[in-house]
Amino acid sequence: EGFGKKLLRHNDKMFPSFVSDLLKIKSLKTNADDTFVVAYPKSGTTWTEEIVWLIQNNLDLEKANSIAHTERVLFLDEVPMTKCDQISSPRVFKTHLTFDYLPENIETKSKLIYVMRNPKDMLVSYLHFVKWIKGFSFTGEFDLILNHFLQNKIIYGNWCEHVNQFYECPKVLFITYEDLVEEPFETIKKIACFLGKEMSDDQIWRLVDFTSFKNMKTNESFYFQEADQTKTQNQRDLFFRKGKIGDWVNYFDEKMSFSLEQKLKCELNPNIQIRYHFSN
Ligand code: A3P
Repeated sequence: EGFGKKLLRHNDKMFPSFVSDLLKIKSLKTNADDTFVVAYPKSGTTWTEEIVWLIQNNLDLEKANSIAHTERVLFLDEVPMTKCDQISSPRVFKTHLTFDYLPENIETKSKLIYVMRNPKDMLVSYLHFVKWIKGFSFTGEFDLILNHFLQNKIIYGNWCEHVNQFYECPKVLFITYEDLVEEPFETIKKIACFLGKEMSDDQIWRLVDFTSFKNMKTNESFYFQEADQTKTQNQRDLFFRKGKIGDWVNYFDEKMSFSLEQKLKCELNPNIQIRYHFSN
């Protein structure tokens, strides 16, 4: 409902139609120096994968500025599997998929980092995303998006199950968007430690600065080669829209907040702390 174009369906889950080799991903050969950044869409995936890529590539800012982001970090859900063998190590992948679609024992063979964002802000970001991408042809408003979330009719399946699955896996580094916003230095340090990379305080601060919202929004490597300048501008606004905590207060009324929180109370692992920052 609300989507003009068909979504892909598999095992009761819906996926965007750009998902290509869904069932081939399981047989991808992984290496010890591969890193997978996993997140539910609109949770800070792009931000985290850029941080991870820079750590793995010894802060090669020049390369980060000059090579298209989509060539540096492969979007597992979208790229043909043959492309994965063509990029050099250490490889960095991003995905929104759950364990059942990912390569066998991925978390023990490679490094896996999961990013969670407070679901209220994630949904606001998601609304803008589905409205912008022409392939979705989405015409609804926020209440419809929230209903989809409550009924698990959103892409990539039940949000609570998505988060629980990775939170409960001891080999996964679990971070939050809110951690990155509020404590970027400490969070980047944690990621570097997890990846087994030594970084000086000075290097970490440089990375904090390079991956700030303002700097990422103006980094040319994020823009598809578009002849049409207005489209390029939109592209910027899609992946780097507001970059803030708490935009949800402009979309949720008390009843909507209640229904979302009720779902989380029933389905989310009770040890997972969500930081909304405001209340209604
Ligand atoms: P908003 O739409 O709330 O602004 P994803 O990469 O998973 O699609 O997530 C996109 C969200 O992360 C967008 O949220 C985007 O603005 C935000 N984001 C991207 N880079 C960021 C950065 N460097 N700092 C803060 N937020 C960032």
